[in-house]
Amino acid sequence: MISYKDLGLVNSRELFAKAIKGEYAIPAFNFNNMEQMQAIIQACVETRSPVILQVSSGARKYANQTLLRYMAQGAVEYAKELGFNVPVVLHLDHGDTFELCKSCIEYGFSSVMIDGSSHSYSENIELTAKVVEYAHKYDVTVEGELGVLAGVEDDVVAESHTYTQPSEVEDFVSKTGVDSLAISIGTSHGANKFKPEQCTRDANGILVPPPLRFDILEEIEKRIPGFPIVLHGSSSVPQDQVAVINKYGGAMKDAIGIPEEQLRRAATSAVCKINIDSDGRIAMTASVREVLATKPAEFDPRKYLGPARDNLKALYIHKIKNVLGSANKA
Ligand code: G3H
Ligand code: 13P
Ligand code: ZN
Repeated sequence: MISYKDLGLVNSRELFAKAIKGEYAIPAFNFNNMEQMQAIIQACVETRSPVILQVSSGARKYANQTLLRYMAQGAVEYAKELGFNVPVVLHLDHGDTFELCKSCIEYGFSSVMIDGSSHSYSENIELTAKVVEYAHKYDVTVEGELGVLAGVEDDVVAESHTYTQPSEVEDFVSKTGVDSLAISIGTSHGANKFKPEQCTRDANGILVPPPLRFDILEEIEKRIPGFPIVLHGSSSVPQDQVAVINKYGGAMKDAIGIPEEQLRRAATSAVCKINIDSDGRIAMTASVREVLATKPAEFDPRKYLGPARDNLKALYIHKIKNVLGSANKA
């Protein structure tokens, strides 16, 4: 058993309490490799933002859990070396079993998500409560989920949203003891969050997605005042980056995300954790494609992963300053 406290990590409890009071959200950025981790830490140190480093079960398989743990420990030391000890949470994203959550807790994670949203309501409660009981023994915080997001999550594809029912949240939170709750109000995973036929077009012919269901969010806030809310699927799919990908041989068709103004609005509410993964993937891919297309003789990975890392860092700085509002909150 390795305690996250010995690795210099923190759980999310205090960060969320401050974020709700201060009307901002903590960035939850996924990482699978060294360049992503470096970009996240560089951006957070430069902006003085707290951060949640997220690891999906896919990332855990890809990168090896032992290496990931040392990377998270390395991230804490790296931040200090860069000159600012930003609070770092190591969080399991979309944990689907008790065993996976337990294993992550034993490996030094400071926070876990148990995503029981594909189960029945009562099974979700049972599974989530079991994880909470174990996690709290080690002061590890737990995120649960109610409602289903459309889109792709690991190997699970949901065709449409099942919005969170506000009438269930009080009961779910009190029966499970979770520390935060992921809700479904119209965000979704991946780079194609809406079909073109679900969108309208503005005067310039640009696709405009349906707005998030702020009415549901407000209703939830009324029922569990001050309780930390999480938004998954919150990439905005920057069209300039998609254009670079397509210009240099990519084929991202009808890619559309959540408008940043809507996320900014959400961040000022009880939403205190916003998950962003796809935008980072898009930024890295745009840079890699551009370098490989414009410098075809290049074969040193540092020559394309370096620019990809810089582009990713710029994206994270933008998110922190202009969308989440977490700059200078570390
Ligand atoms: O919500 C899912 C995250 O974007 C992680 O994606 O399962 O492909 O690592 P992944
Ligand atoms: P995006 O696919 O919108 O980046 O969502 C990421 C996410 O929710 C990770 O859990
Ligand atoms: Zn997610």
